[in-house]
Amino acid sequence: PTDPIVKPTALGFSPVAHSLADVVKLPTGYSMSVLYALGDPLVYGISSWAGDGSETGASYELRAGDHHDGMYFFGLSDAGAYDPKRSDRGLLCLNHENITQNFLHPAGTSYTNPRPASDVDKEVNAHGVSIVEVKRGASGNGMTYVRGSMYNRRLTAATPMELEGPVRGNARVVTKYSADGTRTRGTVNNCANGMTPWGTYLTCEENWEGYFRRDADTTRADNASLNRYSLTANQGGSFGWSQLTGDLYERWYIAATGATAADDYRNAANTYGWIVEVDPFDPNSTPVKRTALGRFAHEGCWPCNPVAGKPMVFYMGDDKSGDYIYKFVSTAKYDPADKGLAAGAKYMNDGTLYVARFDASGAGEWLPLTTANPALAAFPSLADIMIDTRLAADAVGATKMDRPEWGAVNPLNGEVYMTLTNSNNTLSAANPRPGNPNGHIIRWHEDGGDATATTFKWDVYVFGSPTAAPATYNISGLTASNDMSSPDGLWFDSRGILWIQTDDGAYTGTTNCMMLAATPGTVGDGGAATPTGNDGTTPGVATLKGANPTEANLRRFLVGPIDCEITGIAMTPDHKTMFVNIQHPGDGGTGHWPASQTNPASTARPRSATIAITKDDGGEIGV
Ligand code: FEO
Ligand code: CA
Ligand code: CA
Ligand code: CA
Repeated sequence: PTDPIVKPTALGFSPVAHSLADVVKLPTGYSMSVLYALGDPLVYGISSWAGDGSETGASYELRAGDHHDGMYFFGLSDAGAYDPKRSDRGLLCLNHENITQNFLHPAGTSYTNPRPASDVDKEVNAHGVSIVEVKRGASGNGMTYVRGSMYNRRLTAATPMELEGPVRGNARVVTKYSADGTRTRGTVNNCANGMTPWGTYLTCEENWEGYFRRDADTTRADNASLNRYSLTANQGGSFGWSQLTGDLYERWYIAATGATAADDYRNAANTYGWIVEVDPFDPNSTPVKRTALGRFAHEGCWPCNPVAGKPMVFYMGDDKSGDYIYKFVSTAKYDPADKGLAAGAKYMNDGTLYVARFDASGAGEWLPLTTANPALAAFPSLADIMIDTRLAADAVGATKMDRPEWGAVNPLNGEVYMTLTNSNNTLSAANPRPGNPNGHIIRWHEDGGDATATTFKWDVYVFGSPTAAPATYNISGLTASNDMSSPDGLWFDSRGILWIQTDDGAYTGTTNCMMLAATPGTVGDGGAATPTGNDGTTPGVATLKGANPTEANLRRFLVGPIDCEITGIAMTPDHKTMFVNIQHPGDGGTGHWPASQTNPASTARPRSATIAITKDDGGEIGV
């Protein structure tokens, strides 16, 4: 947001073809290197990654975790502060969403409960967030990470965190760990991300519910809440973590085993599902869960461009089939002098959370989730609305969406884009394709160009589709240069180029997952895409006026290796180094990336990794 805003020039690279190879493919004239991969040590004094799972569980508190995901590059000044102009030195913050057990342990994994504590500790520590210093070398724009940097840090599924905002101190977050309901431990399934103009990183808790173990306790008073959050009765909890004896493990078991909530972890799941704010410049700071932004499967959190004297606005999606799109508007007005977690407290603890309704007319409305909303009279407090955000959004009549993944704000005009990755079970004008296995990208323009407005206009930017699909399904007329399926990651760079990443299972017989670049227009900019649905029965939607993209303004930039998801993107402010995350390559059993990038015969264990991409002539990427 503090970069100079320049209108994008035309995309300046040749589109990358479909690929099923076990390598990262880039346009001619571009190169990549592996920057930071699973198991890489952040400090000296522990071993390098051995490739056989022999590293200890404890050592993963100081190694790269698994399943690299959302990411941001913060320029680092010589004085140790956030420098949004600096490109040759920075702190890369990235999420470790999940794990692939077979690649972490010496003999794959151990499925008999209780599992060895050392295996579970490794898995707990391989989740969370990395903060790692990176720098350019003496020549070129390539990057290395700085082993031993004082800023290097891991947050894991066991790191102590504060709860702030309306839920802090509420009875529903009292646990054996925090009898006053002010703290919790760990963050998990951190998917996409956000950054703030005050120099903090936002990491977002997505599919956290699966980690908790629940009994057949369907008479609990909060049963409706548990069910709405898929905390299903009789679920065992991911990876069996809760089956071990000891406080760090039992906290994943949400049974009422004690006399009161302060004696057990019945409320532990209420301390997950939040936006977490981290100060990467203070390695000793305690991360904060910002409960004013609601509790759901947070994909990510995207601020609009901050304006001094105006409220801060954040956009968010709940990645679940048939769930919602949200925005949060701060009560406090933005002051560019504010820095760090104190600024986060000022702008993210107090404000109004809204959920979106997309009307067939092409208009939409932001519906407030407040105690003053008559539709929410049944909620005892704002804290209850925040813990049960999904139930509140149900009650106000929000529009069910096709799995909202990443959002992105166009720096040129403030319009907001959000991927709807796939999976339609509730047809509507904004989600018009039955089944929708290939997804679409919706966008909206806030009325009056004011991010705090409560009404907006929307259209669909692009419908994902194989090239070969009939025109009634390939509504955007995609070609071999830009067809895609299941858009997920989404990011505007400060030049106004939109980067689209895919997490696909529906087109992987034709091509591995990919990243495309686009220079999109504006909401309602022409065209006349009128979907009729892949079965011909969906009503036409006359309000979808987005001009169909062409190869001139949408083309494929990268294809990843076998079995990976492409997710997570960042760039230096000079646009000469791009960071992309390759998540869970080879997890289907046949791939060996990144070793396969240079050795096709490699049989090495695959590793999730951050790559650094540069242009061979040293120029700006994408143009
Ligand atoms: Fe972790 Fe919705 O992707
Ligand atoms: Ca995602
Ligand atoms: Ca996805
Ligand atoms: Ca993923």
